Formats: sequence, structure tokens, C-alpha cells
Amino acid sequence: MKLKSAWYEVEVNPEDRVLSKEELISFLKKGKYDAVLALLTDKLDADVFEAARPSVKIFANMAVGFDNVDVAAAKKVGIMVTNTPGVLTDTVAEHTFALMLAIAHRVSEAERFTRAGKYHGWEPMMLLGTDVSRKTLGILGLGRIGSRVAYHAVKGFNAKAVYYDVKRNEEFEKEFSAEFCQTPEEVLKKADFVSIHVPLLPTTRHLINAERLKIMKPTAYLINTSRGPVIDEKALAQALKNGVIKGAALDVFENEPAIEPELLKLENIILTPHIASATEETRAKMTELAAENIIAALSGQTPPNLLT
Ligand code: GLV
Repeated sequence: MKLKSAWYEVEVNPEDRVLSKEELISFLKKGKYDAVLALLTDKLDADVFEAARPSVKIFANMAVGFDNVDVAAAKKVGIMVTNTPGVLTDTVAEHTFALMLAIAHRVSEAERFTRAGKYHGWEPMMLLGTDVSRKTLGILGLGRIGSRVAYHAVKGFNAKAVYYDVKRNEEFEKEFSAEFCQTPEEVLKKADFVSIHVPLLPTTRHLINAERLKIMKPTAYLINTSRGPVIDEKALAQALKNGVIKGAALDVFENEPAIEPELLKLENIILTPHIASATEETRAKMTELAAENIIAALSGQTPPNLLT
């Protein structure tokens, strides 16, 4: 809408699916596009940028994460790349909490139990869960989303926040009585709930592996709303099966849309299909921000969320 009202002609992917790299390249080679609004499922690499030249000035990625984009390759050929930070912070933090509360209170498991006709009357020991209130929340990655999750935990649930980030934030520590940990291991050792909010980088791939899972408390839960490859899914399945940790809740997966089959068999995990930012309000804001980046780029201004 925003693009159309700015007098741009808009062509939408005619297929109701992600285009293959070859298809995307053949579209781009037509040379008739000035800008591309891309999704996190589009792999944008040097070949794609080469095909996009010289007509395409900007790829506006409709996501805060941009591990699908080779930003350096775009920069090399002078193509702008933007993302959509900020507008989805509250929504992703809410979804993280939805997952945290749901796994702690066994909501999915209890729902399956109820629908299966297994509820035959109140019992004092039936489906016992764990409180989130007053527990220690470990945050890996204290960016916008990580700090919003910590805010909810501390202010809403009287929890203690411990965190690891490559950048220490002393102001945040003061405001939320939060504790900085020198290593991810220290967070894993202390936390009752570990929530991951790091970008996917070569240094964060399999940040959570078999060795690090063993550092966690056997009563702890792992929540991931960042990027799937940050967790070694096979190692997580083993850890959940063998009681190394108590439970997990994932919104993102190592090889989306595939999910490690062993995870699907487990009761002590909640799985949602990469929907942490999927509310009507937020998806509208993400699209609008991507459009604003395009409009700025095509009118000769610096887009608000330029990455290149
Ligand atoms: C969603 O995963 C995003 O990065 O915006």
C-alpha cells in the first residue's frame, strides 16, 4: 500500500512459495526492478546481487535478522540492504514469554492430555509444572529483544536476570539489578530459564551444543526465538530425552522448515513455526518499515535501517 501510494509499480512474487535461487536470479535479470522487498527465506548472496545489477538499488529485508543476506557482497557492488529492527521487539518478547510460561506450566502437554479425554477429575499431583516467578532468567544476547524479555521477567515476575553479551551494559544492570556473566557458560550454570537472543553468526552457530547443555541445571528450561542453528538440535533432543535439562521451547529450527524428528517425539518441548513476530500489528509495521526503507533509497535519501 505504502509503495503503491508513493507511485511505485509493485510486482508480487506470483508463486505462493519461496522462489529458488535460479528463479529469483531469472526474475532479477529482467532488469526492470529498482528495489526488492525480501523475506528471511530468500537467500541473498553475491550471485543474486550480480543478477540484480545495475537496476536494483536496494534489497529491503522484512526481518530484523539478516543472516540470509551476504551484506558484504551487497556492499561490494553498491547495493543497499536494510532490515526492520525495533518494530517487532515487543511481539517477539511476548512470544518468548508465551513459550516460557507454556513450557513451565506444561500448557501444550496439558492441552493434548485434555483433548485426548484423559482428564477424569482434579488431582493434586496432576501435570505439575514450575513457577517462573522469582526464578533466575539467563539471557544470551542482550539486544533490544533480550533486554525486553529481561524487563518482563524482572518487573513482572520478580525474577533475577543474568546475562551474557559481547557488550556489557552497566546501565541495564543498574536499572534491573541484573548480573553480567563473563561467559555463556556462567549464564547456563546459574539460570533456571535460558532465553536466546543472539544473531546467527559463525561465532553463535551451535552456541548451545551437547557440552554446554550439560552445564545447565537438570531443572532448567531452554527457550529460543532467535535463529535455529544457534542450537544443535540433535544434541538438544538427546539432552531432553536423558533428563540433562527439564524442557525446551523453540520457535526457530536448524534447517527450517524441517525439524529434527527426535524433537517431535518428545513431550517436554514446545515447538512453534517461526511465528514470534507474527501478530497482525507487527507484520503490518514490518512491511511498512521495509517500504519506508525502499522509498528513502529510491528518493536519494539514506534508508533508516541501512546495513551496508
Ligand atoms: C524474524 O525472525 C526476524 O528476524 O524478523
